[in-house]
Amino acid sequence: MSYKGPVYIWKCTVCGDKHYAKNPPGSCRKCHSEANRYILLPNNGQGSGEELQNYFGIPSLNSLLYLIGSTRKDIPNAMCCSSVTQITYGPPQVAVAINKNTLTHDNIKETGVFSLVPLGHSQTKMAHHFGRNSGRQIDKFLDYQQKPAKTGSPIIEGCDSYYDCLVDHSATIELASHTLFVAKIIEAAVKTSEPPLTYLDYIKNMSNF
Ligand SMILES: Cc1cc2nc3c(=O)[nH]c(=O)nc-3n(C[C@H](O)[C@H](O)[C@H](O)COP(=O)(O)O)c2cc1C
Repeated sequence: MSYKGPVYIWKCTVCGDKHYAKNPPGSCRKCHSEANRYILLPNNGQGSGEELQNYFGIPSLNSLLYLIGSTRKDIPNAMCCSSVTQITYGPPQVAVAINKNTLTHDNIKETGVFSLVPLGHSQTKMAHHFGRNSGRQIDKFLDYQQKPAKTGSPIIEGCDSYYDCLVDHSATIELASHTLFVAKIIEAAVKTSEPPLTYLDYIKNMSNF
């Protein structure tokens, strides 16, 4: 295998179990400790053998990074997302792939709406905050202000643009680990004051957070 890319290795600080994925598991499969007992091990940014086989992200595609905002029972949440693409112009539609373990997934399934917020080049810290923590464990909006868009989904302080989205459940596709939500943009505010944040930008700077 010639691919050289970053590998995430999470280690349970209670029993030492290793987990190869972008995020730690919900709980340790061996000692059942909570996800927050896992630490991300430093590595040389290259993968081989078992590590590569277990690594499932494809940052070499270098997607742009977004926050996906959702609100359920009046509690706002947001997560970082790279699996986002525009699919049609008329009507304006996007597709986003959301892991079924996330709170965001449950929120969108139930409410059928979300906000899509592009991250700017200087916002790696936000990508890390919203992408490395789950709203199941912490309130991610203790550190950031937000206000509701038309659908009630959060627009996040410090972000120039947003797209307010309504899910088309009939076009949405169930994948094994993710749901590919297809949604229509019903409102948007688009300003571009800085270049977008990419997955590779994030990988280069994530160790600072
Ligand atoms: C750079 C980056 C990109 C990510 N891209 C995705 C993605 O495309 N789809 C996804 O389901 N999770 C993605 N995640 C992981 C979620 O952001 C993460 O699981 C988050 O903790 C879920 O939060 P929630 O449980 O509050 O919804 C990404 C994380 C990071 C840091």
